[in-house]
Amino acid sequence: MARRLYIETVGCQMNVLDSELVAASLLGAGYELVDSLAEADTILFNTCSVRQHAEDKIYSALGRLRQAKEQQPRTVIGVLGCMAQKDQQRIFKRAPHVDLVVGPGQLHQLPQLLERVLAGRGPQMEVSLDRKAGSRAEVQQSFGRYDPLRTSRARPARHQAMVRIMFGCDKFCTYCIVPSVRGPEQSRKAGEIVEEVRQLVDQGCLEITLLGQTVNSYQDSSGGRTLRLSDLLAQLSVIDGLARLKFVTNFPRHMTPDLLQAVRDVPKVSPYLHVPAQSGANPVLQRMKRGYTVEEYREMLDRIHAEIPQAAVTSDFIVGFCGETEADFQQTVALVRQARFKNSFIFKYSPRGGTVAGKLYADDVPEEVKRRRNNELLTVQNAINLELNQALVGRQVEILVEGPSKIGRKLGRQGEQIQLAGRTVCDRIVVFDGPLSLTGRILRVEVRKADDCTLFGQLPAPLVRLQ
Ligand code: SAH
Ligand code: SF4
Ligand code: F3S
Repeated sequence: MARRLYIETVGCQMNVLDSELVAASLLGAGYELVDSLAEADTILFNTCSVRQHAEDKIYSALGRLRQAKEQQPRTVIGVLGCMAQKDQQRIFKRAPHVDLVVGPGQLHQLPQLLERVLAGRGPQMEVSLDRKAGSRAEVQQSFGRYDPLRTSRARPARHQAMVRIMFGCDKFCTYCIVPSVRGPEQSRKAGEIVEEVRQLVDQGCLEITLLGQTVNSYQDSSGGRTLRLSDLLAQLSVIDGLARLKFVTNFPRHMTPDLLQAVRDVPKVSPYLHVPAQSGANPVLQRMKRGYTVEEYREMLDRIHAEIPQAAVTSDFIVGFCGETEADFQQTVALVRQARFKNSFIFKYSPRGGTVAGKLYADDVPEEVKRRRNNELLTVQNAINLELNQALVGRQVEILVEGPSKIGRKLGRQGEQIQLAGRTVCDRIVVFDGPLSLTGRILRVEVRKADDCTLFGQLPAPLVRLQ
């Protein structure tokens, strides 16, 4: 009988993509995918180390499996991804019932590693070199590639796909664990990416999101001339059948004129730019080693709006970073108010072992102050979200219909209609009633109502009659 695989994923879109690739390769090796832990005999956690909370969640999930493993010793439990790379042997110490620890650079070895476990060869661990454990080339080499030719079998959405254009990160922001767990920055070759996108479009994908930790520092010099993200967008844009191109996450210093012009001029590129600011106060930005001042960040925003007036800019912020004063925090609030981001992800600072800030700076903002700042900034951002969304009421927006909304999935069909969800080019979510057959269509809906995170739309009259 086929082995039954359950994968739980936390963390960023890189991890979501990695889990898709892992699932696809194991389906190819004869596994079947199941939706719950209870049905599974192979349980994989694809983990994140960016904040303590993400790690705690996984360790407690592992703790809950201890008994199940005693009763069912043939159940295989694996820890994949960033926490595997960071904690390595410590995972076996804290959770001795774990069979597998596999870093993000070794995921391609998973089918063989699982076979070894099943053959009774004991716990298996494969991770990459620490960043200081060898030359740059050796460390790069140890972060193996894992973007095999894609099958559509494990893709969560039929009409959308993510494509990694680079691995790793070299920025070493002082709070961040990503450069250690994902390794040195390496761009994939443009030709390889174009080929992958072509295949995805052949499989029915309309929207492609290019992924990189600092996606706008993409650089491929393998063919002589250096190709940058703007060139890659132009090459991808001519692929027939592709409708939308997005890319995340941008680093503010690499928001170069050629990229802004590409977003403005190259057909199919969405005017949606996620460019995390992290803080609005210079002393904090400096301690974070972000490499720009808040004045430079504002100037970059001005350039974006001058080139692309319809652009939707989103950001990330960390509140309560080491030494952040109330006055510093209020500068962040001022930045959010002035920039009117389409959305911001806001995080409380979480010290990470193995980072510069974790070693050198005291985590001196008390938890309740972090919480209060988080809520305050969120309230300011939510009010902006609401205003921006309400400004769209009465207008038509173009959406790619993704399928039933959360409510639609819960309530099911009401006659021929179900609540569907779609996404605008600027990543706004629109829900509306319509037939399921609209899934995968790009169409216009009229916005009738809005709250701070959702637009409520209606199909225009001719489409309603067509049904
Ligand atoms: N590469 C992306 C994001 C990586 S992690 C970028 O540079 O923008 C996603 C977000 O998590 C970061 O933007 C940051 O806001 C947050 N983050 C990273 N490390 C953190 C830490 N130690 N504590 C709290 N938030 C953190
Ligand atoms: Fe982390 Fe900074 Fe790299 Fe983003 S750019 S992944 S925040 S080190
Ligand atoms: Fe987390 Fe790794 Fe992404 S640490 S944020 S899953 S790169």
